[in-house]
Amino acid sequence: MYIIFLGAPGAGKGTQAATLARELNLVHIASGDLFRQALEQETELGIQAKSYMEKGMLVPDEITIRMVLERLSTPDCESGAILDGFPRNLKQAETLDQALVQQAKAIDKVVYIKVSDKELLRRLSERWVCPSCQAPYHTTDSPPRVRGRCDRCDSELQKRPDDTAEAIKKRLEVYFAQTAPLIDYYCQTGKLLEVDGEGSVDEVRRRVVSALHHGELAYPRL
Ligand code: AP5
Repeated sequence: MYIIFLGAPGAGKGTQAATLARELNLVHIASGDLFRQALEQETELGIQAKSYMEKGMLVPDEITIRMVLERLSTPDCESGAILDGFPRNLKQAETLDQALVQQAKAIDKVVYIKVSDKELLRRLSERWVCPSCQAPYHTTDSPPRVRGRCDRCDSELQKRPDDTAEAIKKRLEVYFAQTAPLIDYYCQTGKLLEVDGEGSVDEVRRRVVSALHHGELAYPRL
């Protein structure tokens, strides 16, 4: 089972994709997390991605596509994966489709989380993330149990360097110019499920599960 989470920066892709991956026992592949881990470890990949990420721009396709396809080819992804933040433009989407076809596989569903611009800004400006396991938190809506510490691994929470006003503005511009066209791309394949992303994390989760059921995905009842 291959499911893509699509949506603007701050729509809640990471939050929902991580929960669904745990519930379905699938690997959660978040391209942004892979880049941030590489940055943290100061690898060549991290160094290549750094300047693009800081400015809110997309990392070049050749770097991003290779990184995600390599991750997808590892044995733990054999039965499927939840993709979050990839693909992000038509070239990435078409390359992913071709790579899956070569393995007699295909994307099953694309969950598009739709959130107003006002709510996106509110979520991003109050976001905290765990630098170790990448879990996202929000000051008021999904705070950690202990202030400033990750619930899962107890690391100290941090602000993301690209959650500045300037970088958020750029990320939203890039999203509308390059990623939003994927809504039509997947709509034409009949795989797109649009989900209202406003409301609590749990309300959105229930809508995602319901959309997947109604989308007739062979999907275990949660
Ligand atoms: P990436 O990490 O993918 O960032 P993004 O797409 O901008 O998405 P975010 O992680 O900001 O938002 P999200 O939708 O996951 O929301 P979250 O769940 O955290 O990419 C970062 C950078 O890496 C890119 O700019 C680019 O440079 C590079 N990159 C990555 N992929 C690439 C690609 N394919 N090609 C090229 N470059 C790439 O939630 C946000 C906040 O809201 C959190 O605080 C959360 O707690 C809170 N929240 C979530 N849901 C709710 C809710 N229902 N109610 C209230 N609060 C909520």
